[in-house]
Amino acid sequence: MASFARSASRSLRAASRRAPSALATSAPKASYSLFAKAAATKVAHTAPAFGARGVKTLDFAGTKEVVYERSDWPLAKLQDYFKNDTLALIGYGSQGHGQGLNARDNGLNVIVGVREGGESWKQAIEDGWVPFQTLFPIEEAIKRGTIIMNLLSDAAQSQTWPTIAPLITKGKTLYFSHGFSVVFKDDTHVVPPKDVDVILVAPKGSGRTVRTLFKEGRGINSSIAVWQDVSGHAKEKAIALGVAVGSGYMYETTFEKEVYSDLYGERGVLMGGIQGMFLAQYQVLRKNGHTPSEAFNETVEEATQSLYPLIGAKGMDYMYNACSTTARRGALDWAPIFEKANLPVFEALYKSVKDGTETRKSLEYNGRATYREDLQKELDEINNQEIWRAGKVVRSLRPDYKPESE
Ligand SMILES: NC(=O)c1ccc[n+]([C@@H]2O[C@H](COP(=O)([O-])OP(=O)(O)OC[C@H]3O[C@@H](n4cnc5c(N)ncnc54)[C@H](OP(=O)(O)O)[C@@H]3O)[C@@H](O)[C@H]2O)c1
Repeated sequence: MASFARSASRSLRAASRRAPSALATSAPKASYSLFAKAAATKVAHTAPAFGARGVKTLDFAGTKEVVYERSDWPLAKLQDYFKNDTLALIGYGSQGHGQGLNARDNGLNVIVGVREGGESWKQAIEDGWVPFQTLFPIEEAIKRGTIIMNLLSDAAQSQTWPTIAPLITKGKTLYFSHGFSVVFKDDTHVVPPKDVDVILVAPKGSGRTVRTLFKEGRGINSSIAVWQDVSGHAKEKAIALGVAVGSGYMYETTFEKEVYSDLYGERGVLMGGIQGMFLAQYQVLRKNGHTPSEAFNETVEEATQSLYPLIGAKGMDYMYNACSTTARRGALDWAPIFEKANLPVFEALYKSVKDGTETRKSLEYNGRATYREDLQKELDEINNQEIWRAGKVVRSLRPDYKPESE
C-alpha cells in the first residue's frame, strides 16, 4: 500500500515534468536562459509579479503588515546575491522537489542531499540531479553547501540532528520551511549553533503547488522569519531565498507564530476539521434515510465543486449572494450555532499545539520505522468509508473524469 502512495507521487512528478511550461527543467543553464527570455518577453506581460511593484505595507482589515514581493528581486540581482553560495537542499520530498527545481531554474547553484540509494535519491535522479555532481549523500551535501536548507520530514530533522549539527559550521546559513524543529527544541533537540543565521521560508501550500505556480509565472504565498541573525542580513537572505524557491509574496512572521498557526490550521479547517464536519453531516443524512449519492452530493460535491470556489474567488458574502434566499436565511441562522459549538474545540486544539502535545504525537508517529505503512493503513480506512466510496461514483460522472486520476 505504501507503494501506492509512492507510485502516485511518481506519476505526479512525471506529470509535472510533462506539463507545458515556459521553463525547461532538464538542465540548469538551459532552464535559466529559457526562463530569462520568457521573463523578459512573454511572461512579463502576463505575470503581474514581474511588474514594478515591490515591498509594501498593506492594511489587512485594520492591521498594517509589510509584504515583500518578488519584483524587488529581478533574476540578475538574485543571481548576483547568491553568486558565492551553494544551496544545499537536504531532503527531496514534496518541498525539496518544488523548491529545488525552482531555485535551479532561477539559475542558482543548487545541490541535493539525501540518503544514497533511497526513494528520494531515485526521484532526484529522475528530476535531473546528477549523482556526485549535484546530488550527494546528506553529510557530503552539507559540507559543500553554504546555505543548508533542511527539508527533511520534521521527524527526520530531529532524528538526524546529532549527525548533521556538527557540519553546520560558522558562516553557513541554516534554513527551514517550518518552525517545528527549533521552536519545539525540548522535544526535537534541534538547537542551531550560535554562529549561523537561522531563517525560515514556509510556502503556504504543497511542494507541488510551489512548482506549478512557479511554472505558470506566478508564485506561492510564503511566510518568512528569522530565528537567529548573526550576519546582520538574515532577513534579507530569507526574502531572497523566498524568491529563489518560487514565492510571489512573502509575509513576515516569527518561527513560533508560523508553527503554531500551521499545525493549528491543518488540524482544523484545512484538513481534520473539514473531514470531521463532512462525516458528521453525511452520517446524519444517512441515518435519516437519504441515499449515499444524495448525502455525498449535499455534503462534499456541492461544497468542493460549487460553493467553496466561490468563497475562494470573492469571499463569503459573494458565496451567500450566489445562493437562494432560502439557503441564505438558513445558513445565516446556523452559522453562529456552529461557531459556538466549534469554539471550544478550536481553543483546545490551539492549546494542544502550543503546549507541544501535537509535536510529541507527530514525532512519535512519524519517527517510527513503519510510519509509511502505518499511515497508509489509516488512509485506507478513510478510503473505505462509505462516504468516500460513494464519492468515487459521483466523481466518475463528471464530464472531465479521468480514471487514471483516481
Ligand atoms: N509538504 C508540504 O505541504 C509542506 C508545506 C510547507 C512546509 N513544509 C515543511 O517542509 C519540510 C519538508 O517537508 P516535505 O513534506 O517536503 O518532506 P517529507 O515528504 O515529509 O520528507 C521527505 C524527506 O525526508 C527524508 N527522510 C525521511 N526520514 C529520513 C531519515 N530518517 N533520514 C534521512 N532522511 C529521511 C526522505 O528521504 P527518503 O526518501 O530517503 O526516505 C525525504 O527526502 C518540513 O519541515 C515540512 O513541515 C511542508
